[in-house]
Amino acid sequence: MSSVTIPDLPLDRESLLAEPATICAWLQESDPARLSRLWETADRVRRRYVGDEVFLRAIIEFSNYCVRRCAYCGIRAPNTRLARYRMNPEEIAACAARAMDAGIRTIVLQAGEDPALDAEWVAGVIRRVKSLGPVAITLSLGERSDEELLLWREAGADRYLLRFETSNPTLYGLYHPGRSDGRARSRVEMLHALRRLDYEVGSGVMIGLPGQTWADLAEDLRLFAELDLDMIGCGPFILHPDTPLGDWAIAEREGLVAAIGQAYFGQNLSQTSEELQGLSRVAAAISEGALGGEGVEEIRCFAGLRDLQPQQPNFLASPGCGYQESRKGMADGRMPSALCGGETSAWPPSAGADQVPPDELTTYKVIALARILCPWANIPATTALATLNPTMGRRLGLRRGANIIMPNFTPPHYRTDYQIYPGKAETLENPDNTLAGILAALAAENRPLGQGTGVSKNYLRRKGLLPA
Ligand code: 5AD
Repeated sequence: MSSVTIPDLPLDRESLLAEPATICAWLQESDPARLSRLWETADRVRRRYVGDEVFLRAIIEFSNYCVRRCAYCGIRAPNTRLARYRMNPEEIAACAARAMDAGIRTIVLQAGEDPALDAEWVAGVIRRVKSLGPVAITLSLGERSDEELLLWREAGADRYLLRFETSNPTLYGLYHPGRSDGRARSRVEMLHALRRLDYEVGSGVMIGLPGQTWADLAEDLRLFAELDLDMIGCGPFILHPDTPLGDWAIAEREGLVAAIGQAYFGQNLSQTSEELQGLSRVAAAISEGALGGEGVEEIRCFAGLRDLQPQQPNFLASPGCGYQESRKGMADGRMPSALCGGETSAWPPSAGADQVPPDELTTYKVIALARILCPWANIPATTALATLNPTMGRRLGLRRGANIIMPNFTPPHYRTDYQIYPGKAETLENPDNTLAGILAALAAENRPLGQGTGVSKNYLRRKGLLPA
């Protein structure tokens, strides 16, 4: 089809920033040739601005206590289905020492917003890790006061990660109830404060939060450039069952199951758990592809196994109707009111046809566009990406703009309790295996291991320290 010439979308930084609709168009691109152009451009920019080296960051998730109630996160305060833990300074230092023995020169100290981590305690941990040798410290401790951030910077912390999660203020508000003590700060404002305090500043978003549109995601990317971020971490949203979003997904599926039972078989089939399970598969297939081929197959298979006679065979011939009907059922009040947050039911948010999917492909597009928009930034192939695709996720991330990997150095016996989302890659491995896998991936990608702490080139550039 070489005779058809579709004008190609511009892909340089200036054009993308001048016309955010172009970012939006790239995010929705599905043509393989154009996507190859996106990947190749991002890879070329990455090589030119930050080189081939891949830097490792050892992450230690040292406390899963959290006072916040973020609607997507598994360690939110109200979740009682996990054991809370807080590592002591000795344990933290021992983990850091292991990472340093393995040659890693950045330690990421991450925790929930745990009030027991008082400022002096954290400062003590920072000094202790710093005393182990030449190592950079990245903090990821949520929303904190300027005084705390200053104290920690003076104690030796070099970098701070705080994702703004979404640039859409309405969506942000729906997912992030305030703190019960009323202390709140705007994340973007805190990113500015971190910059004033001379931290290397990292942020990022989740991809595919329910209610997130393509335009929202394009604005997230534009904001990365406006904030002139030194580090950018983005991963797919992964549904956690023990959260308000998880409750909603289950409630929706159960509503759908009941609707299919009624509409197709003329009876309530969702009484026994076995039947519920069978129909749940049907519901899953249908909600993913409306009432497409897979959904129909699932219903036939389910009916065949149980020798059920369809009461309304036409149900199968009206694509999507059962799904739409059951959604209406949910809207009519089948959804537990506790999940709706009272009468004003903006919950759960919905973006309809504009909804960004929380998938691998979209994540690669975000990584690639972030690289083009912020060429000097350090950009990880995140653990959430590795969770969607354990064998190739990180490697494809590295090919499409990423230059950082963050192996988990949390002691294995704590990891199952730090499930911010389920199935987190490496939950059950020990750090040495994880590291071996990552080093093998680097070798396979022909990318050298970074030496030294891997300070963000963007930070060096904005400080006038980047050698020409
Ligand atoms: N799926 C994917 N990422 C999540 N995070 C929190 N919960 C989830 C989830 N369910 C991300 C947030 C947070 C980071 C530490 O983990 O973006 O900033």
